[in-house]
Amino acid sequence: SLVFICSFIVFMSECQKIQEDRQVPRKFPEGFIFGAATASYQVEGGWDADGKAESIWDYYSHKNPELIADLTNGDIANDSYNQYKRDIEMLRELGLDFYRFSISWPRLLPTSFPDKINEAGVQYYNNLIDELVKYNIQPMVTLYHWDLPQKLQNMGGWTNPHIIDWFTDYAKIAFDKFGDRVKYWITINQPMSVCHSGYGEATKAPGIKSPGQAEYICSKNLLLAHAKAFRLYDEIYRPIQNGNISITIHSFWDEPETEDDIQIANDSLQFMLGHYAYPIFSETGGFPKVMIEKIAAKSQEQGFSRSRLPDLTTEEIEMIRGSSDFLGLNFYTSRIIRKNNNEIKYPEPSYFDDVNAIDYQPADWIEEASEIFKVTPWGFRKILMWIKAEYNNPPIIITENGFSSRGGLNDTDRVDFYRSYLDAMLDAIDEGANVIGYTTWSLMDNFEWTKGYTERFGLYEVNYESPARTRTPRKSAFVYKEIVRSRTLDL
Ligand code: NOJ
Repeated sequence: SLVFICSFIVFMSECQKIQEDRQVPRKFPEGFIFGAATASYQVEGGWDADGKAESIWDYYSHKNPELIADLTNGDIANDSYNQYKRDIEMLRELGLDFYRFSISWPRLLPTSFPDKINEAGVQYYNNLIDELVKYNIQPMVTLYHWDLPQKLQNMGGWTNPHIIDWFTDYAKIAFDKFGDRVKYWITINQPMSVCHSGYGEATKAPGIKSPGQAEYICSKNLLLAHAKAFRLYDEIYRPIQNGNISITIHSFWDEPETEDDIQIANDSLQFMLGHYAYPIFSETGGFPKVMIEKIAAKSQEQGFSRSRLPDLTTEEIEMIRGSSDFLGLNFYTSRIIRKNNNEIKYPEPSYFDDVNAIDYQPADWIEEASEIFKVTPWGFRKILMWIKAEYNNPPIIITENGFSSRGGLNDTDRVDFYRSYLDAMLDAIDEGANVIGYTTWSLMDNFEWTKGYTERFGLYEVNYESPARTRTPRKSAFVYKEIVRSRTLDL
């Protein structure tokens, strides 16, 4: 017991040392950049204005209005197509370094291809970018935030390997037109949502249900499309335009339920974060070994004569490997993972059945970010440390992090969320994670996909009753502004 008491005393004094080392208020590193994000379909409106063609979200929400919680759509959304100057005024009010927004592919290229460029579309993005540059706010542009031209979906969308060239041709036009002023490019937002939600479980446009099948064909094409656009930029545009380009991946943190579940939790993370990060950021490239093995075994069990996970050739692996200047991470929440001991949770093929795990968010993870997820700042630190160890400490930009609140203008729950997540992120930075920037989702309320306007992620509240879609800062906007101004987190 003497040993116990002694080690307890040592432990306490270590804790105290850590407490003392930690500065309060906590400082962000030198050169750290702050921004806020939106996406074209969620804010622009003008769905058929001035020659814009239909996207899969226009088609999906018009065809199946009942699939959207409040029967709305993004036809008008925040009217940013007309109100972009107000959006930029808000960014200035917040004192932000950059604005992450996305380009609508069918607004720029109504035929989907470069044969016809929509000048009104070019003008819109030029206006937006010029106004940002005028106020010294860096544009961070996502090329694909889910609004695929419907014309391309009619040809199979992300399951058609031609999309590798279709996407690269589109990217080329964007680099040509905007790359003189855009120094941060993100090829694709949240591949897991594109392929798993869009072509697997059918909870997002185009609403195709083919879990673990079309879903994995989509993954392969998407990784190659990203890589080809990256290579184009790297070889042709970087020497003249001198910017950065990467992909944005989202993931939960997967916490093992017990010590015996450490391996399965890690496997599960490999199927989510690793699915897209490993091919790009690992030293070896290709899909994670555990995905290749588990999917092959499961496919065989299910009577498929080949693995449902498509092969990558050595050439393809090499093209994808290293295709990034930083890792864009969207982080919101965590889940508990345990091994599935033959409980039937997924009657149909599913990527999660391929993992062979059960996932859940315990009811006693008290606070909820509205109906969408639970608040787990500790998972933020853990996933950042996992990325550091797994991928040799790449530079990371948090391209999204945020909270949906029902608190109106006095959104103290969102303020608490931001404080706790930023604190956890600073812990990871103190432990050596190379996080160089942070982006809130979102600058303002917007169309939250199948949840319509029922979820409110904005630092600014948007009044959907008013034709001007009036924007009003919430408490969280003032708090974020002060964090950005002082470059400190005052807890
Ligand atoms: C993920 C997506 O990139 C964004 O479009 C969405 O609105 C937020 N996270 C919140 O769910």
